[in-house]
Amino acid sequence: MDADLGNYRKSYEKGELLLNSVPENPIELFRDWFIEVDTHFNVGETNAMTISTVGLDGYPKSRVVLLKKYTHEGFIFYTNYNSEKGKAIADNPNVCLSFFWHAAERQIIIKGKAEKISENLSDGYFESRPRGSQLGAIVSNQSEVVKDRKELELKLKDLEAKFEGMEIERPHNWGGFIIKPVELEFWQGRPNRLHDRIRYQLQDDYNWKIERLAP
Ligand SMILES: Cc1cc2nc3c(=O)[nH]c(=O)nc-3n(C[C@H](O)[C@H](O)[C@H](O)COP(=O)(O)O)c2cc1C
Repeated sequence: MDADLGNYRKSYEKGELLLNSVPENPIELFRDWFIEVDTHFNVGETNAMTISTVGLDGYPKSRVVLLKKYTHEGFIFYTNYNSEKGKAIADNPNVCLSFFWHAAERQIIIKGKAEKISENLSDGYFESRPRGSQLGAIVSNQSEVVKDRKELELKLKDLEAKFEGMEIERPHNWGGFIIKPVELEFWQGRPNRLHDRIRYQLQDDYNWKIERLAP
């Protein structure tokens, strides 16, 4: 098979990112971009992000997860701690997050360190989830091989009966990770491939070095 995609070409013209107009703190720029994209561009799940980990086999692996909270401290998502990504993070907490908001011609790449959030915070979020998602978290030994779909559906049915009328507790192998950023890069597509790239690198607890990168 031979699929030539060489003619896929687009001129990016929706915005600009100038060094003299960016805030000192990159989380503020993240917030501004997130809100703008969420409000004015129809991107579907603005909070969908790719997280890349370095696996126990030495290969990087990327997959999409949903950002559930961001603060000045970092970016939080929820998952199964025993999943492939969970094991990778336990071995090497250095991860990379990326957002691609096609409609806004924007990309954000974040390098950082992943840490489990507190049990209390994970409990709070788990309680706020719909019952079906709570049961799903218990049913699925995420990333393990399953014989067939039926196995999962039967397990769900059993659990529905077992927990009928009862509160469902968060399983201990399910919870949140916070990614504490050390570097963020903001990319805005521009005409003639002269895209804007602004990189923030953490210098100490509060200060960020800000530089423009060649596209
Ligand atoms: C739009 C979208 C959102 C997702 N959100 C999550 C999520 O928040 N948490 C999660 O564990 N997996 C989520 N997934 C599934 C992951 O991409 C992945 O299949 C799963 O976490 C297992 O990854 P692993 O085996 O590499 O650990 C999502 C997938 C998609 C496409």
